[in-house]
Amino acid sequence: MAKDAFGRGLKDLRISVTDRCNFRCTYCMPLNKYKWVERRELLSYEEILRLTGLFVRLGAEKIRITGGEPLVRKQLEILVKGIAALPGVKDLSLTTNGALLAEQAPPLRAAGLARINVSLDTLDPEKFKRISQRGELSDVLAGLRAAQRCGFHPIKINAVIERGVNDDEILPLAEFSRDHGFTIRYIEYMDAGNSNHWQLDKVVSKKEILQAVAARYPLREAKRTDASAPAVDYRFADGRGKLGVIASVTEPFCRECDRARLTADGQLVTCLFSPSGYDLKSLMRGGSTNDELMERIAVIWRKRTDRYSEERREAISSGTGYEPQNRPKMEMIVLGG
Ligand code: GTP
Ligand code: 5AD
Ligand code: SF4
Ligand code: SF4
Repeated sequence: MAKDAFGRGLKDLRISVTDRCNFRCTYCMPLNKYKWVERRELLSYEEILRLTGLFVRLGAEKIRITGGEPLVRKQLEILVKGIAALPGVKDLSLTTNGALLAEQAPPLRAAGLARINVSLDTLDPEKFKRISQRGELSDVLAGLRAAQRCGFHPIKINAVIERGVNDDEILPLAEFSRDHGFTIRYIEYMDAGNSNHWQLDKVVSKKEILQAVAARYPLREAKRTDASAPAVDYRFADGRGKLGVIASVTEPFCRECDRARLTADGQLVTCLFSPSGYDLKSLMRGGSTNDELMERIAVIWRKRTDRYSEERREAISSGTGYEPQNRPKMEMIVLGG
């Protein structure tokens, strides 16, 4: 297996299939004008499958399909079927905003998709419109129900908590998830991309989130099954399910980070906060063999020293002030989280 400069393997591959999205969430993609990837620059499903096979040979076992919004790309089930059939893939999952899930959950399930994570930050239809700037809460709820009917399990709900926006919904989101058999994951608001006007005081910490839930439903930390998973899990003491918190700001998890990202236009990105990626598409379209592509990926991975969230925490706690705009990054919508 390829190991980076800190001994971290390459076990997890997040594949963005498009940078387009039918939402414009304020914490992710607030811009109306943006230079989208041109169609001819997009990797075809055949190209994605070829590269995925090489990442699997280098050690990747967990594959996640993301966007933008992955379900806006046509016939995603074709790609899912191809990846599911690759020997060595142990976990194949999707992160979606859920708006198109009601119609697409059945073909995705039939194609071999194992797990789905759905973003849902509020249960208030008006607030949903304000945050997503385009979406309808009812579509996402219908998508969640359809995914459940098809037998997806677990279904995780991702809620980015932003102070003054939806921190009053920490408890209602927990109750909704418990009542309907979903696993809620609260995500600390991150300074992802360059456009979301992130400020530290908008971050609701893991500690605050847990306090808000535990005041009503006592929690017990769950045993860790995957050392490199971003979420720390807790069980409801009454036995009715569990929740997770992804605390990239207050408790960064870079030390275990084994995630590579592939953008829709074929760049390998070694950190969610990277300023740029490495162009694999040009090599592939230029005629590189599989062995040459694998060697290129391995060389990039071996040199990897990313630990952005730990550096952010160090900068914040040093008291010298942390200015995210001084670190240009790729946009979240290009990386899919
Ligand atoms: P599971 O395999 O189901 O645990 O999914 P996941 O949490 O790895 O993936 P998901 O796409 O649901 O992402 C949830 C949140 O975690 C998003 O806000 C991601 O941006 C964030 N996240 C995932 N991986 C990383 C990472 O390597 N670094 C940081 N800082 N955040 C990450
Ligand atoms: N901070 C934290 N999470 C974010 N996501 C998008 N932008 C941010 C941000 N600034 C989450 C989405 C989705 C996942 C892929 O990334 O809510 O669940
Ligand atoms: Fe929102 Fe996800 Fe689209 Fe970003 S990619 S705007 S988080 S739905
Ligand atoms: Fe990995 Fe970068 Fe996230 Fe740290 S900040 S966990 S190195 S993707």
